Amino acid sequence: MSRASLGLLSLLVFLGGCGGDDDGGSESAKFPEKDWASEAAKLQEGPDWYRHALFYEVFVRSYQDSNGDGIGDLAGLTSKLDYLKELGIDAIWLMPIFPTPFKDSGYDISDYRGVNPDYGTLADFDALVAAAHERKIRVIMDLVLNHTSNQHAWFTESRSSKTNPKADWYVWSDTPSAPDNGCGTDSAVFGDSAWQLDPTRNQYYFHRFYPEQPDLNYENPEVVSATLDVARFWLDKGVDGFRCDVIGLLYESATECDLIPKTQAYIRELRKVVDEYPGRVLVAEPSNLTDATGYLGNGSDMFHMAFHFGYGYFWGFSFGGHDASAITDTFQKSLSQFPPGAQDALVIGSHDVPRAYSAAQGDDTRHRRAAAIQLSMKGTPFLYYGEELALRPGSEKVVDLRDYARTPMLWNADPGHGFTTGKPWLAFGQEADTFNVTAEDADPASMLSFYRDALALRRGRAVWGTGEMELLETGTKRVFAVYRSDDFMAYVSAVNMSEEAESVELTRPDLGSRAARVLGEGKLALRSGGGTLSLPGQGFGIFRVK
Ligand code: NOJ
Ligand code: CA
Repeated sequence: MSRASLGLLSLLVFLGGCGGDDDGGSESAKFPEKDWASEAAKLQEGPDWYRHALFYEVFVRSYQDSNGDGIGDLAGLTSKLDYLKELGIDAIWLMPIFPTPFKDSGYDISDYRGVNPDYGTLADFDALVAAAHERKIRVIMDLVLNHTSNQHAWFTESRSSKTNPKADWYVWSDTPSAPDNGCGTDSAVFGDSAWQLDPTRNQYYFHRFYPEQPDLNYENPEVVSATLDVARFWLDKGVDGFRCDVIGLLYESATECDLIPKTQAYIRELRKVVDEYPGRVLVAEPSNLTDATGYLGNGSDMFHMAFHFGYGYFWGFSFGGHDASAITDTFQKSLSQFPPGAQDALVIGSHDVPRAYSAAQGDDTRHRRAAAIQLSMKGTPFLYYGEELALRPGSEKVVDLRDYARTPMLWNADPGHGFTTGKPWLAFGQEADTFNVTAEDADPASMLSFYRDALALRRGRAVWGTGEMELLETGTKRVFAVYRSDDFMAYVSAVNMSEEAESVELTRPDLGSRAARVLGEGKLALRSGGGTLSLPGQGFGIFRVK
């Protein structure tokens, strides 16, 4: 359905309900307010800053080119920090920026202590971190420890003979299989066999991903200390933490690969290193896409956060139907299983999956509703660059199909779209003249305007990151609703999965007696013992109730 016809539909169904507030009064007339900007600044000062932060994942190569070579770089990103600040971003996650042969878009690192010359120098990195910190934006980096590039000096040495000092730094075998490794499979995640013959050693090395990404051997204590030193190197340089790539796969047994006890022990060591530096954080990329609990340890000894892929990578299926059960189930699971103190990292996309636009099958309302859930649940949202524009997919690939979701950022409708004055390293995505920052800024109905409003609603309000969360019974799987509360305030956030208007009864006893809609559409009429929630087809609403 087009945006115009959708707009008309909601107008017809909810005539009178679209004026702004739920029952006529403004939020500030009904509820106490605070100076949210200064609250936001306070929340970012303490050790729990990450629980209240909005993170933004950046592919430096595709963000902003500063020197016309068509490749985004660190200086380019530095020049866009004000855009990010204005959007309400508190922290950026940099996908790998290290020297790399680029067989896996930088996840094949050939030097852990350098910067990809396409992106700049260590001095450019320092300048980025300084400029970000000046604006109170933190910077975390990708830490890719399961494997290196086959061009890393460690591997060059390891493959040179069976007796060199680094001979055991990688996983070698005389056969293309190993009974005590490989977690019961000899297949790689990318491609066929996980074993590659090296002609010099005349042995096979193990690679969970591309053949150019040999797995490090963590049974060797030298590998453990060398990789922990990599973390120290960047922490010393002032980074605020790491997103840890496939870290559950560090050690494997004959039958299991995800988070076996030795891997958990390594993660606890890494956490100790990070804890030597106040205020730094770790976020896990779980290999188990439906349960991140194991990565969170006792709540304070492993990861500060883990990505919630059970929602983040599967919401498109739920919105393809009209049933929120899978969404309810995955959050029910994290609610009941997470150790105290653990924090969800909430996503609706990343560099590894199709763009939110594609997952929503081009339906603007699905994207908005998915984001409304992401931004309403207890946890820390991570946006993927361009998500705020509903960036369309590309159709060119340099590395692999995931490039469709890694196209250059679109700043305006000029030929280089404000990204470059040269030829972009990867062709721009579709409809680039229409869906870019400048065009969307000028359109109050755009995705960017939606994100600006939605992110502003979170600012300074601790309830979103750490308040209590209760999934509400709505009597139908077509309506998803959640109640978020802390001492100061409470919200009901609800999404209608179906195309039909829905009116449901909420029976929670103490929802309060008045509601103000602060985002979206629909009505919430509260009375003692519950209330009636009405949402237009494909609509969502966020209501303040305390
Ligand atoms: C997970 C990363 O997100 C992905 O992009 C990469 O290909 C693999 N890990 C291997 O590093
Ligand atoms: Ca450049």
